[in-house]
Amino acid sequence: MAADVMTHEDVVARPATAAQGTNCTLADYQAMYARSVDDPDGFWAEQAARLDWVKAPTKISGWSFDPVDIKWFEDGVLNICHNAVDRHVDAGHGDRTALIFEPDSPDSPVRTITYAELQRDVAKMANTFKKLGIAKGDRVTIYMPMIPEGAMAMLACARIGAIHSVVFGGFSPDAIAGRVEDCESDWIVTADEGLRGSKSIPLKANVDIACEKAPVKGVLVFRHTGGDVAMTEERDHWYHDLSDGVDSDCPCEPMNAEDPLFILYTSGSTGKPKGVVHTTGGYAVWTETTFRYVFDYRPGEVFWCTADIGWVTGHSYIVYGPLQNGATALMFEGVPNYPDHDRFWQVIDKHKVNVFYTAPTAIRALMREGESYVQKHDLSSLRLLGSVGEPINPEAWRWYHEQVGKGAIPIVDTWWQTETGGIMITTLPGAHDMKPGSAGKPFFGICPQLVDNDGEVLADETIGGATEGNLCITRSWPGQARTVYGDHERFIQTYFTTYRGKYFTGDGCRRDEDGYYWITGRVDDVINVSGHRMGTAEVESALVLHARVSEAAVVGYPHDIKGQGIYCYVTLNAGEEASDELTAELRQWVRKEIGPIATPDHLHFTPALPKTRSGKIMRRILRKIAENDYGSLGDTSTLADPSLVDGLIEGRMNR
Ligand code: PRX
Repeated sequence: MAADVMTHEDVVARPATAAQGTNCTLADYQAMYARSVDDPDGFWAEQAARLDWVKAPTKISGWSFDPVDIKWFEDGVLNICHNAVDRHVDAGHGDRTALIFEPDSPDSPVRTITYAELQRDVAKMANTFKKLGIAKGDRVTIYMPMIPEGAMAMLACARIGAIHSVVFGGFSPDAIAGRVEDCESDWIVTADEGLRGSKSIPLKANVDIACEKAPVKGVLVFRHTGGDVAMTEERDHWYHDLSDGVDSDCPCEPMNAEDPLFILYTSGSTGKPKGVVHTTGGYAVWTETTFRYVFDYRPGEVFWCTADIGWVTGHSYIVYGPLQNGATALMFEGVPNYPDHDRFWQVIDKHKVNVFYTAPTAIRALMREGESYVQKHDLSSLRLLGSVGEPINPEAWRWYHEQVGKGAIPIVDTWWQTETGGIMITTLPGAHDMKPGSAGKPFFGICPQLVDNDGEVLADETIGGATEGNLCITRSWPGQARTVYGDHERFIQTYFTTYRGKYFTGDGCRRDEDGYYWITGRVDDVINVSGHRMGTAEVESALVLHARVSEAAVVGYPHDIKGQGIYCYVTLNAGEEASDELTAELRQWVRKEIGPIATPDHLHFTPALPKTRSGKIMRRILRKIAENDYGSLGDTSTLADPSLVDGLIEGRMNR
């Protein structure tokens, strides 16, 4: 797919009427971008002024990448829940819709929640958290379905200064336990069950298993499906019981701009997932500003981001970005293909969605089902489309543009990461022409740089120039992650050591002669499966935990729908035989250890893994074989046993 991305450079002009919200034209973008890099403090002080501060910051930026110490707005005091909720009620917009909830089944009732109702419900929830004993600085694990109470739980934490750690509802009990332990969270907020495509997800039962490994002080449970769950006395509380009679007036805790807002676990090339820490002020300003400009926010519009709140996209563009702008955000519990392949288009029509933000993997899956599903619905409310999470291949881009956008509305292809807090590279709808497959231009304040493997700067940071290399960012921006929870050294090692003094993204990238950035995918041992980021090391660790597995090496390979699939080379313990049963068992095993998103696509049993004489697994060779690319295996003579390669190729060709 990467090759496809890189060969298309046709330009699709932005529609003439695009800018009516922020009115950001090309000239505006250029002037604002120049100002954002020439006078970052002046620029960001102005952006920050749109928020309510208890104490306005006088110090705007204060950061260094060597040594690593990142601060923004450091003497400012604010509360992001106040900015996302109360501020709009105070301004007389209490009756505006904040959240629209579209349930899994189109036959179940829709819920709409106004800003005034959100304020009441979040404040009550915050008081209920306090009643349970949750206090400022405590870590609260949120393992919730895609229901408004999930977003409210995040906001309720923010309101009282507790740090939320949302764990995606598709993760396994082991994954929950690992995250609860890592951030020493005493509290879990969950629901009886979730629903996806009419299947129920046993959230509370998963929490119970997790708690056997990682005990907590309290579990707060929302009733959602009404399914049967076990309640452990003293530890578990039904929300509706505990909140009964609780006051719905709860002041927002004044937070220092650099107080942590949340932890979100994400995969890297090595070890366990890292708890990336975002702080309050910079993240608030970054998500408010990026949402406003990238989606060209216009009051009264309905914004739908299809991500789950368990991922950073859900944090920034379901909850904090839209709500800080006073927008109406749609939350959808279901899946794109239930009850049929037109579910997304039906929801857009039903709620007259104006901005739709989804992942290429969903577009590819729906594209495969044909146009008739899209054509059944009136999509004329749409004004802007967005893409996020992985490179979008031009074929999918064109389908999205033509079938969904009827060739008439812009697409923003937004490149960013959990660590960046919000959008970093994108076109702006009223400012830039689009190139299918290219994310576009740096957002305000972002200084990308492409370097070779030795860290030599390719072309020039300021004048740009066409080149291809490893994507670094040379200056801090307000939404940047500040640390890895409990392990600042790992933060430094992971992001600032490969190319000293620069933030290294882990992505490869090409910049063309027009200064457009084309992300080519990860250059480390991270793979991107259906827009979900996964460390190959995590899947390997899960596999070797199985009693019959001796060694495993996991790589990504191109997959038509998922972008990348998971290819696992496995060696078994002496005396063990490969079989279809074992394949099924190991796939199930990985699902249980990590979650369904980590299910291996291919299990390739091999008597040994190709290693150098010093014992290092030659992943490059394994990647090429998984990609069916046998012509460019490179030098195999350094292998301890070069003859292994033929067997591996044969094994690959036979599947
Ligand atoms: O490889 C890039 C890819 O997703 C990675 C970040 O994953 P995560 O932290 O889970 O955040 C995903 C949602 C922001 C990046 O390193 N990626 C994300 N957006 C794009 C992308 N690759 C190409 N184009 C994008 N628009």
